[in-house]
Amino acid sequence: MLDKIVLSGKAHEELGERLAQAMGVEYGEVEITTFPNNESRIRILSNVEEKEVIIVQPTINDPDVHIVQLALITNAARHAKAKSITAVIPWFGYSPQDKVFRYGEPLSAEVMIKMLEAVGIDQFYLVDIHSKDLLDLFSKQVHHLSALPIFIDYFKQHQITNPDEWRVVAVDKGGQERAQNFADKLGLDVVFFDKKRDLSTGIVTFKSLKGDVKGKKVIAFDDYVSTGGTLIQSAEQLKAMGAIEYIFCVTHIVVQSTLDKLETSQVDKVITTNSIDIPNFEKYEKIEFIDISQFLAQEISK
Ligand code: R5P
Repeated sequence: MLDKIVLSGKAHEELGERLAQAMGVEYGEVEITTFPNNESRIRILSNVEEKEVIIVQPTINDPDVHIVQLALITNAARHAKAKSITAVIPWFGYSPQDKVFRYGEPLSAEVMIKMLEAVGIDQFYLVDIHSKDLLDLFSKQVHHLSALPIFIDYFKQHQITNPDEWRVVAVDKGGQERAQNFADKLGLDVVFFDKKRDLSTGIVTFKSLKGDVKGKKVIAFDDYVSTGGTLIQSAEQLKAMGAIEYIFCVTHIVVQSTLDKLETSQVDKVITTNSIDIPNFEKYEKIEFIDISQFLAQEISK
């Protein structure tokens, strides 16, 4: 694999290193500092000439800085004569802003895509984006992966002996297909929540549930947790309706301060991935992190 090299910005160096290891390729060195005026200063220290360069950078935890780093590393690799550039962006910053929701707003996801395509990224790998509408905004090749098989494997290995004891909940309309898919893979029934979010305050309320959860163990599978409103409110509702256990699977947790709120919520367990760098993740008792580097390596090597 001498023709491939993995690089990363500062967003998630550990994932970059793990991916390189899983792919059996070199993990290259990138020097990232700032000028006195706070502009990013990038230099690739490894040789990338004629190599397929894979840049790992979830554009989150200071997304604006991390998007610029990704753009600058791409441009640097181009100037250093890389053969091709693949960007692995497990969480694509601004991806939920994939529509003009209200008059006067930008189509922010489109701005990020155009910028990254313009600097020379040839293909993108994204994981569990909020809505497939985002994919239509790309001109370059984009591979949309889902962490679903990772969670399915988890339940196949760990928990489910009697399927009738379990239900899968779709926490909102947008997640119905995702929940159905999840349930089909495990042979479980689905119940459906009617969720409303106030666009100005962001506050989530659950209206009604189609289906019965009394005495059942319930699993949710969502793309991301932000404020935690969806997770926390759904946990309260389900427990009030008689659910005996609630396990929330989610690919990305995009706001770190939410993790403390999840610990004190009525959810029994949160299973997530290391798509985003979460410092000190061991301290969270209810949250289990699954490494996605092997999965990413397999997909990228296909
Ligand atoms: C919504 O459609 C998404 O799939 C998530 O359920 C949601 O946006 C998570 O946000 P929060 O944690 O703020 O409820």
